[in-house]
Amino acid sequence: MRQLKKPKTSFICQKCGAASPKWLGRCTECGEWGSMLEEVITPSISSPRHSLSAEKPLSLQDVKVITSSRLTTEIKEFDRILGGGIVIGSAALIGGDPGIGKSTLLLQVSNKLAIEGLKILYVSAEESVFQTKLRAQRLGISHDNIWLVSETNTSVICSYIEEYKPNLVVLDSIQMVYKPEIPSSPGTLTQVRESTMDLVYLCKRSGVSLFLVGHITKEGSIAGPKSLEHIVDTVLYFEGDRFQSFRILRTVKNRFGSTNEIGVFEMRDDGLAEVTNPSELFISSRPGGSDVGGTVIVASFIGSRPFLVEVQALTSRAYYSQPARRVSGVDFNRTVMVLAVLERRLGLTLGSQDVYVNVVGGVKIDEPAVDLGIAIAVYSSYKNKPIPRGVVFIGEVGLTGEIRAVNQIETRIQESARLGFNKVVIPKVNLPTGQVKTLNKATDYLSRGTKDTDKVEIIKHSYLSEVVKELVW
Ligand SMILES: Nc1ncnc2c1ncn2[C@@H]1O[C@H](COP(=O)(O)OP(=O)(O)OP(=O)(O)O)[C@@H](O)[C@H]1O
Ligand SMILES: [Mg+2]
Ligand SMILES: [Zn+2]
Repeated sequence: MRQLKKPKTSFICQKCGAASPKWLGRCTECGEWGSMLEEVITPSISSPRHSLSAEKPLSLQDVKVITSSRLTTEIKEFDRILGGGIVIGSAALIGGDPGIGKSTLLLQVSNKLAIEGLKILYVSAEESVFQTKLRAQRLGISHDNIWLVSETNTSVICSYIEEYKPNLVVLDSIQMVYKPEIPSSPGTLTQVRESTMDLVYLCKRSGVSLFLVGHITKEGSIAGPKSLEHIVDTVLYFEGDRFQSFRILRTVKNRFGSTNEIGVFEMRDDGLAEVTNPSELFISSRPGGSDVGGTVIVASFIGSRPFLVEVQALTSRAYYSQPARRVSGVDFNRTVMVLAVLERRLGLTLGSQDVYVNVVGGVKIDEPAVDLGIAIAVYSSYKNKPIPRGVVFIGEVGLTGEIRAVNQIETRIQESARLGFNKVVIPKVNLPTGQVKTLNKATDYLSRGTKDTDKVEIIKHSYLSEVVKELVW
């Protein structure tokens, strides 16, 4: 009697997809520890899928474009970060920590589209339809156009899509579904990738928009990870502190719009509400100012929008020979550079200080225009003197301590004025004397206000040392 052949297995890195015949403690490709998982190799994995368009190549001119190819949800923050609504036939992946509100958001999106007369198939792979219904009740959602099913078999889900022909499919979550012909368990790289590919291909071919929920690993990427981000058109991250009520939806990848956009929501009892004035959220100290040193307001662009955000710094005596540098919300390397400039150009002895820099509200800023704010925050904490009231700092800091120009200075000034700040420190090079056109435009805007707080004083400086002299002491 012939013995049953043991299925051939391979160890697949769940982070980068590298394969190895032996188990390895550390992936040789990406260096991740403990990421190798045994998966059965199936020869049929790369089974042919239907092509996305007509069979024969077409000349670029002959390819027909379907106009008005976006579904708008009337949740403006949501539509905007997608680049103006959900592109028909596109696939998006939305990741986020447990309990952050992924299911809530997608149910609310489904509701808006259902009201517009579109058909939604909401596939819940980790909850019963009963649980989903309870959530919907709490959110006040009840619409005939939303179809619920609790299913984990990808092939069955595909057959539902073909049968029900929805406009939007929500799959919550991709880590819970499986293809029966693949022996690996749900959530493994192979299962997640294969299921995603099947769904994306089917939806693209039939003009169905697809939203996949993905769970985030402890390292912060979507589990079953980078390789998944290539298959979908858009990748969104839903972030925020679970203990605070607001949430930030961030575009990480977008084939149909710009990335780096953020949408801001507040989690309420009746679901997620849009925050239309996000700057106010990120500033704990109002223009009235703070009485403690080390906290400054900067005007920064996140995606295409200006935000006022609060940067805080704390310096404290270091007890180890290697002083600590802890940074959250700003770029680590830039911050270290700013610290070096402070040390060399302004004579701060930071080598004996632990330095912490934090952006209030959990936003991330990665543009050099916040350098000046970071420098002033650290300086202010070090000297233990608060910043004067109502000041916003804008500027990049160079290695000689010079303040370099930033883009869209006018919009930044306007946002500062709008929120009641009355002094803006900017790079001199942004508004050289004799070239006051921009300044006039900014003041035009400001003079429209009637209150005193609507007037902004623009303070121009070329060097960090000048700013410190004039403003801090
Ligand atoms: N009864 C309730 N009243 C108010 N808020 C609630 C209630 N139940 C849940 N929430 C809020 O909804 C959040 C959970 O939202 P949701 O289930 O959409 O998150 P999720 O990202 O889908 O989570 P998971 O990863 O577990 O699927 C909770 O953290 C809580 O803030
Ligand atoms: Mg959920
Ligand atoms: Zn790897």
